[in-house]
Amino acid sequence: ILVGLALIVGGYLLGAVPFGLLISRALGGPDPRQGGSGNIGATNVSRQAGKAAGALTLLLDIGKGLGPALLADYWLTPWWAGAVGLAAFVGHCWPVYLRFRGGKGVATFLGVLFGLAPWAGLATGLVVILLAFVSKHMSLGSMVGCTSSVGWLWVAGAPVAFMVMASLMSLIVVYKHRENIGRLKAGQEHGWR
Ligand code: G3P
Repeated sequence: ILVGLALIVGGYLLGAVPFGLLISRALGGPDPRQGGSGNIGATNVSRQAGKAAGALTLLLDIGKGLGPALLADYWLTPWWAGAVGLAAFVGHCWPVYLRFRGGKGVATFLGVLFGLAPWAGLATGLVVILLAFVSKHMSLGSMVGCTSSVGWLWVAGAPVAFMVMASLMSLIVVYKHRENIGRLKAGQEHGWR
């Protein structure tokens, strides 16, 4: 239990690190919160500070979900591991360092899935990319793709704990995209890059 609690707290604190903001700052780029969608995620960092900055943000945001999930999966039961993954994801969405104003969690969600159930994670990532590419909106790909993870986990025969965790994270992802949903409905959503 002590290891589990430590990983939950550690996962949250790592997940809360706003890599998009740090990378934009390090490169002398604009604050991603001031332009585009105002989000600190890879999509908006790429819009504001270029593709390389976006790619680095994507990798690090995936990493902060992947690391805790791998450790937790190695040491703990599925329910604990799911909780640790959820903690890292919640860290990204509501980071203590930014007065709890964080991102939408998509990259960290993918990282957690890669760590807990790699094949389901890969399938989810492919759906995100494919739908974003076809619709030209990263937001649409993200919402539908993340939600599809529950199905992929089921196909992969993953523990119920992971499906419950992925359902919860998908709900949060959609909730975090509420402004995007408004823009999509109004036909005013930003491009996928
Ligand atoms: O992962 C975030 C993406 O789905 C949407 O980003 O900046 O267009 O709101 P953005």
